[in-house]
Amino acid sequence: MVNIAVLVSGSGTNLQALIDSQNSGLIRDGRIRLVVSSRQGAYALERARAAGIDAAVIAKKDYASPEEFDRALLDWLAQYQIGLVVLAGYLNILSPAVISAYRDRIINIHPSLIPSFCGDGFYGLKVHEAALAYGVKVTGATVHLVNEITDGGRILLQKAVEVQEGDTPEVLQRRVMEQAEWVILPRAVQMCCEKLEQDK
Ligand code: GRF
Repeated sequence: MVNIAVLVSGSGTNLQALIDSQNSGLIRDGRIRLVVSSRQGAYALERARAAGIDAAVIAKKDYASPEEFDRALLDWLAQYQIGLVVLAGYLNILSPAVISAYRDRIINIHPSLIPSFCGDGFYGLKVHEAALAYGVKVTGATVHLVNEITDGGRILLQKAVEVQEGDTPEVLQRRVMEQAEWVILPRAVQMCCEKLEQDK
């Protein structure tokens, strides 16, 4: 059984999809043991508490240096013997030190079909604003491994979503979350846990 940490910054709807998928048995080779938020007050922390999952707030502003922030994050992950790190709406860019400590064991959900509308500065609503501005007819979500290049790691799963006439960024974001993110992230987590168990 792989110990999973979910890193969050916002409402935690992707975290909720993971919790629900663990409860339904879709995720069967992993257990969410820890939620780490980049800031106080993230609603994702409420979701963790309601699900009885330990949570920590590790905010960059609380540390004197990036190295001390990394140390704190790595200590929490080690304490919970984490085998898979899931970035679910997490807004910090992880340092090379953290990425190398969990090489090929960190995954991220991005709200577009990479390589479109990704990389530095493309997060949250900005992604959907760019998709609408370009006029794409199809967008979607991507789960990928995290490496030192923002949104640059190997793609694990993708799911396409239709852009509709009159879509606002908010309406499109919601459709991409409901029809793509909340579907492929749990599947990707189970896929990774299954592989990690086999490779043990
Ligand atoms: C959403 O924009 C989602 O597409 C991205 O992070 C944002 C917040 O997600 N992955 P969540 O509700 O906090 O999971």
